[in-house]
Amino acid sequence: MEKQRENWGSKFGFILAAAGSAVGLGNIWKFPYIAGENGGAAFILVYLISILMIGIPIFISELIIGRKSQLNVVGAYKKLSNNSPFWSIVGYMGIFTAFVILSYYNIVAGWSLGYFFEAIKGTFNEFTTVELASNYFSNQTSNTFWIISWQFLFIALSVYVVFSGVRKGIEKYSKLLMPILLVILISLAVWGISLKGSSAGLTFLFKPDWGSINGRVILIALGHAFFTLSLGMGAIITYGSYFRKDENILTSALWVVFLDTFIAIVAGIAIFTSVFSMGFNPAEGPGLIFNVLPTVFNKMPGGNIFGTLFFLLLFIAALTSAISLLEVITSYFVDQKKHSRHWVVLVAAFVTFLVGIPSAMSFGLLKDFQFFQKNFFDIMDFLSANILLPGGGLLIAIFIGWKFGYRKSMGALESGSEGWLQANIFFAIVGKKVPAKKLSIGNIWFVFVKYVAPILIALVFLKSIGVI
Ligand code: PFF
Repeated sequence: MEKQRENWGSKFGFILAAAGSAVGLGNIWKFPYIAGENGGAAFILVYLISILMIGIPIFISELIIGRKSQLNVVGAYKKLSNNSPFWSIVGYMGIFTAFVILSYYNIVAGWSLGYFFEAIKGTFNEFTTVELASNYFSNQTSNTFWIISWQFLFIALSVYVVFSGVRKGIEKYSKLLMPILLVILISLAVWGISLKGSSAGLTFLFKPDWGSINGRVILIALGHAFFTLSLGMGAIITYGSYFRKDENILTSALWVVFLDTFIAIVAGIAIFTSVFSMGFNPAEGPGLIFNVLPTVFNKMPGGNIFGTLFFLLLFIAALTSAISLLEVITSYFVDQKKHSRHWVVLVAAFVTFLVGIPSAMSFGLLKDFQFFQKNFFDIMDFLSANILLPGGGLLIAIFIGWKFGYRKSMGALESGSEGWLQANIFFAIVGKKVPAKKLSIGNIWFVFVKYVAPILIALVFLKSIGVI
């Protein structure tokens, strides 16, 4: 008899694990620096619109594909498309994307682990100016041995978690780590707001300057919506495959998206209030939090403790995301190839270590190896966030909207979401029944998946290459 697939212990467990995947370096490291580089509030608005109109519908679609098939990303597409070669390739693209993301994700995660130890050692005490901090950052990130050692240690820790499986590994650690992260981040934001001059940071975050928007910026905002929600490559399909039939997909998806967005905004507040009140440059690039925050901690009462907590938080957030990327690869080899879980995790992790080495050296030995003014690290980031994930998302929307179709999708979504799906959207909002039956939440979701999301993604692609 076939072994029963492992399940999340509870809906809460799923929400924390999926939020663990979603909330990561994307929220705390990447979101502030790309918002800083692309004009602040206007960029954030485009990002929020992408989350609402594209992110939520696709998140629900991935959960459906995962739960319905009970399989990894490749197996899921194969099963639900009756072995279509095209859709199998889309599944393999997800595995490929996981390797591309991990190749540079593990590096930044390694930096945060390294900075956690620097904070404990009291290194930030020397950073009286941002120049001193950024010189230190450049020195460390050009030191191949430093980077690769931390990268290795970080990967070893993710292996440890994924080794233990879904419930005893991923779910257990996410439940423990996610609440700690929330508490630390909110404290930092409150501290940031209390600083003199913090209002300039809030204005930057919340007052849009539409002049800064163009096709490239819209693509970056859309790509980030995918990246931050872990969408477009099968991570949520994989987590959805451990989702029980009697749990509500709709409300779970909304919870995860809400938590992820909330945490990005809180991280933005924590970082930009500090950046502006100390007179730093918000467009500092990938080094933003590593250059600016240690200088902020240097000036802050109890800064060593906050600094230590902050980099611990960054590491935790990175860990719960990296394990979901590793799980995409692992579950494929376990389900499809019947390899043992432990063996697969070890080999996959080792491969991600190797493919990460050029990214690790992009700030040192391989600094001059550039293509279109991007180093290897930037290329991996651009390729995954701005091409592979939105492209994968477009295909997921097409799969659910056009291939799997209305009837089957509704059937798959229904179990666990019964009352919700048929509820009239106006009824859900204002509590009054309106006769228009077609406007049920389920129907509106489907229109977004079938038409709105694919058209918007296609338009953004076309605009970013200057066709429209
Ligand atoms: N969502 C993660 C973050 O914001 O850091 C990154 C990520 C994890 C992207 C898992 C994609 C993925 F499948």
